[in-house]
Amino acid sequence: MVNNQSPPLPLLAATGLCKSFGGIKAVNDANIEVPKGSITGLIGPNGAGKTTLFNLLSNFIHPDKGRVIFDGEPIHNLQPYQIAQQGLVRTFQVARTLSRLSVLENMLLAAQKQTGENFWQVQFQPHIVAKEEKELQQQAMFLLESVGLAKKAHDYAGGLSGGQRKLLEMGRALMTNPKLILLDEPAAGVNPRLIDDICDRILTWNRRDGMTFLIIEHNMDVIMSLCDRVWVLAEGRNLADGTPAEIQSNAKVLEAYLGQ
Ligand SMILES: Nc1ncnc2c1ncn2[C@@H]1O[C@H](COP(=O)(O)OP(=O)(O)OP(=O)(O)O)[C@@H](O)[C@H]1O
Ligand SMILES: [Mg+2]
Repeated sequence: MVNNQSPPLPLLAATGLCKSFGGIKAVNDANIEVPKGSITGLIGPNGAGKTTLFNLLSNFIHPDKGRVIFDGEPIHNLQPYQIAQQGLVRTFQVARTLSRLSVLENMLLAAQKQTGENFWQVQFQPHIVAKEEKELQQQAMFLLESVGLAKKAHDYAGGLSGGQRKLLEMGRALMTNPKLILLDEPAAGVNPRLIDDICDRILTWNRRDGMTFLIIEHNMDVIMSLCDRVWVLAEGRNLADGTPAEIQSNAKVLEAYLGQ
């Protein structure tokens, strides 16, 4: 009997991505796939090209070559804000928050498609705008609670520690109700006591809310406990991909890390 069922299309698939900076081939013919509903890991030694790959996937940097398909559509020619509107958001290795605004204001600014942005609606349907603002505030406070920042809601974001800023960035990303979140080292600089909490929350957002994640992380405990599949980059190229257990015992991967 012929099996006509093809495997489901990945939510994100990038093929043949290349990016050079001067003479450095930061990403050199790299591929990656992120199945819908998965938590996928991206690891590799320092300078392997992981952040550059995130920049290419979200088009913060335009690739020299290659294709990125998200949810069945090519996105490599879209602007980053258009990609975010399609449901792909990313956080930065060094968190980008607005220091002079409060933590809550940072969250509210991240929300998309607010009715309040429409002048005519503000004039003629202020009750709808007020209701929407209240709902957004509630959503923001709920998410701040879940990233452990509710008590800081009215503090300036500039007063947060590096780790807390990363948590705020994650909260901001979630305000847009994305389909896929790219997290660049979510555990780096975060208080070790909070790291388990963050992992639990990522698992809940994944299992309960069906959110898909692609996570760069040097903390192998985080990668091993969260990821369904792990991709390894070294010197801009794909070195391996497999289950966390396969990757942990892959001789080429161990060699790449030892050779750092
Ligand atoms: N804007 C840039 N201009 C010049 N070189 C760059 C630029 N961005 C990255 N590179 C170089 O590209 C290579 C890959 O860097 P990238 O930041 O992508 O690595 P990474 O895997 O994220 O490393 P880490 O684990 O340290 O964050 C490095 O050699 C880096 O110096
Ligand atoms: Mg990086």
